[in-house]
Amino acid sequence: MFEDLAGRIAVVTGGARGLGLTFARALARWGVQPALLDVLPEVADSARALQDETGVGSVGVVTDVTDERSITDAFAQVGSVLGAPSILVNAAGITVWEDSIDAPRASWQRVIDINLTGTFLCCQALARACRSAGQRGAIVNVSSMSARVVNVPQHQASYNTSKAGVDMLTRSLAVEWAPLGIRVNAIAPGYVLSDMTRQFTDANPELAQRWTEMIPAGRMAEPSDLEALVVLLCSDRSSYLVGQSVVIDGAYTAI
Ligand SMILES: NC(=O)c1ccc[n+]([C@@H]2O[C@H](COP(=O)([O-])OP(=O)(O)OC[C@H]3O[C@@H](n4cnc5c(N)ncnc54)[C@H](O)[C@@H]3O)[C@@H](O)[C@H]2O)c1
Repeated sequence: MFEDLAGRIAVVTGGARGLGLTFARALARWGVQPALLDVLPEVADSARALQDETGVGSVGVVTDVTDERSITDAFAQVGSVLGAPSILVNAAGITVWEDSIDAPRASWQRVIDINLTGTFLCCQALARACRSAGQRGAIVNVSSMSARVVNVPQHQASYNTSKAGVDMLTRSLAVEWAPLGIRVNAIAPGYVLSDMTRQFTDANPELAQRWTEMIPAGRMAEPSDLEALVVLLCSDRSSYLVGQSVVIDGAYTAI
């Protein structure tokens, strides 16, 4: 089904754990060599484990997606270890819960820098790598249903705004880069059980119950629920699917 992916090289940001690592593993099962970029030092162990498990080459590079120099160095390392990347999955992201009225500017800025500006800078790096290598590309940005709805009861204005920006960035780059053969799409997940959400639900199990009651599908997603969509968006099988942010949320936003 996705045989066209075999032998291609992908950069997956936020790849040390969570959704990024799940997506990298799913791509590796189709023969993609994933490079994992993350601020966490354990990204190297994640890449080694992924390589042992799937038998395809991988590399983990400590990278800060808010730092252009760090991104340039990481892409150079990926190029020399695995080869020129033609796929990018932007999964690095953070959320901060706070009341906007008292939120420090630095906290707002950090969320925008990582979730939105970091996504832009990595898209730019992938597009430049494709241009240098004379090859086509596919980008999947990890947005959120929070780009379209305001989740409750938590207050996360910076996160919601950053993801709305990711959706518009996705459409903008898709239009601009379609003539270059670089397809840009996004996925917009609902609540997923990952380290990001567990930091809240572990401390507050009633929260998970409240969220679940709002999801028509009756449960939060597992990271693996999203992986087939990401693989499809990376593959040429979706070559006419361009500039979309595909909601995958158990019908949360349908009501
Ligand atoms: N978990 C959910 O419910 C959910 C829902 C919708 C969207 N998302 C999005 O999915 C993506 C992955 O989230 P997750 O749930 O796997 O969370 P996670 O916290 O498990 O993973 C996020 C990863 O991003 C990395 N990261 C953070 N700042 C970085 C930086 N400056 N440079 C490089 N890497 C950085 C973290 O170290 C971490 O490994 C995020 O963009 C998140 O907003 C998550």
